[in-house]
Amino acid sequence: MPSHRRGYFIAFEGGEGAGKSTQEALLTQALLDAGHPVVRTREPGGTPAAEQIRHIVLSPEFEGLDPRAEALLFAAARGEHVARVVRPAIERGYVVICDRYLDSSVAYQGYGRDLGPEHVRDLSLWATHDLVPDLTIVLDISPQVGLSRLSTPDRLEAEPIEYHETVRAAFLTIAAQDPGRYLVLDAGQEVDALAAAILRRVLVDLAAA
Ligand code: TYD
Repeated sequence: MPSHRRGYFIAFEGGEGAGKSTQEALLTQALLDAGHPVVRTREPGGTPAAEQIRHIVLSPEFEGLDPRAEALLFAAARGEHVARVVRPAIERGYVVICDRYLDSSVAYQGYGRDLGPEHVRDLSLWATHDLVPDLTIVLDISPQVGLSRLSTPDRLEAEPIEYHETVRAAFLTIAAQDPGRYLVLDAGQEVDALAAAILRRVLVDLAAA
């Protein structure tokens, strides 16, 4: 049952194969068990229109998609998702757990495609009326390890290892710029230890919110 107060917005970020989905599922269950109302969602996607954009940006069929078009599509999906799902849930008092958000665009498009992190960030801020997460959890993993955990790669996953190295470094740079709003964790550690570290921080933040 949602509370009367504003909710809390948590984004999970990180490279491919970092185990975000597993950790999101564990955090969702732990928060529900503790009595917090939770909405779990993902980007790109989360609404019918945004899921169609997801198909375009991830499909290997569109190999060579123009980088600016790619950045605009991710931002468009995000605008739709925030307007219809994320912001309404926060306003109704839910804890929103989102698989990837704005920093994925800054890392994959801004740094990875060399479009400029500021431009890409501004684009997403415009698309979302400036909605930023209360907390972003970065699961850090070496691309060699992360990519080896995947089966069939999508269009982004199929990029060369150097691209994924750039993305990894980008997430660490972004987190270092605003340490109070980020929790960076080694995604190579045991699943349960990682889940415990995440829950500890989230419960502290929720108690203070
Ligand atoms: P997905 O299958 O959800 O990957 P993961 O399980 O790693 O989250 O695919 C999302 C892909 O899209 C992933 O390769 C990262 C990429 N992406 C961007 O390039 N920019 C963005 O803004 C977002 C949200 C994702």
